[in-house]
Amino acid sequence: MIDIDMRDREAEVLFTELNEQNAFKSIAVPRPIGFIGSVSKDGVHNLAAYSQFTNVNFDNPHILFAAQLRPDGTRKDSVVNAEETGCFTHNMVTYSMLEAMNKTAPSYAPDVDEFEMSGLTKVDSLYIPAKRVLESPVQMECEWVQTVRLPGRTPKCTSDLVIGRVICIHVDENYVLPNGKLDILKIRPLARLGYADYTTVTEVFESRVKSMLSDPIPGSYGWMSPTRGLEVKD
Ligand SMILES: Cc1cc2nc3c(=O)[nH]c(=O)nc-3n(C[C@H](O)[C@H](O)[C@H](O)COP(=O)(O)O)c2cc1C
Repeated sequence: MIDIDMRDREAEVLFTELNEQNAFKSIAVPRPIGFIGSVSKDGVHNLAAYSQFTNVNFDNPHILFAAQLRPDGTRKDSVVNAEETGCFTHNMVTYSMLEAMNKTAPSYAPDVDEFEMSGLTKVDSLYIPAKRVLESPVQMECEWVQTVRLPGRTPKCTSDLVIGRVICIHVDENYVLPNGKLDILKIRPLARLGYADYTTVTEVFESRVKSMLSDPIPGSYGWMSPTRGLEVKD
């Protein structure tokens, strides 16, 4: 067993290790990558990839993404924009969008429209001014709720956890199976592993908890609508 004491390492060494070889970033994997679309108060549109993203709360549905401060201690544009205009979009990143995604990764000046840098297509949202990515099979419109500052040992290790309420989900019908589920194998979501490693979903299997089906809580983990006629196999 290798024991890594995360408390007594020199901050700069830890930061380098985390990016290059430390196991921490490889533990929560695979992390789906989301494109966060936002707009500044001056109307400049912004697109940036975030892998520290998750869904939280199902009713109302919320998502959060974590943005580290830049090395100079300033906040990322996605965070500033979400707060200033009260909204952002989340767009699923797929394997076919890998190259476009990498084009948005450098830290551009706030007046640069990263949709244009990526070559992806900007589409209007229904309810918010932040734009969506046409090429993404699933897009969500979110209202900004709160930003939680998680202090790091140095400014560049400090994160802003941005929480938004999902008010609308857009699904491209070409990626929906006849039973109503998202066709994940066709979507091929792109996901981060640690280091410079990525993965994509190439296998899906089902598993249901039998006890939860006999006393189901609608919408909860393991629950499936009885009208779908699905059975538990031992
Ligand atoms: C695959 C991928 C995942 C990323 N995940 C994150 C992340 O979770 N948090 C973060 O702060 N930056 C992340 N980045 C870096 C941001 O995309 C990058 O700093 C971007 O310039 C931020 O743009 P913004 O200032 O417009 O928000 C990621 C980049 C890539 C390519």
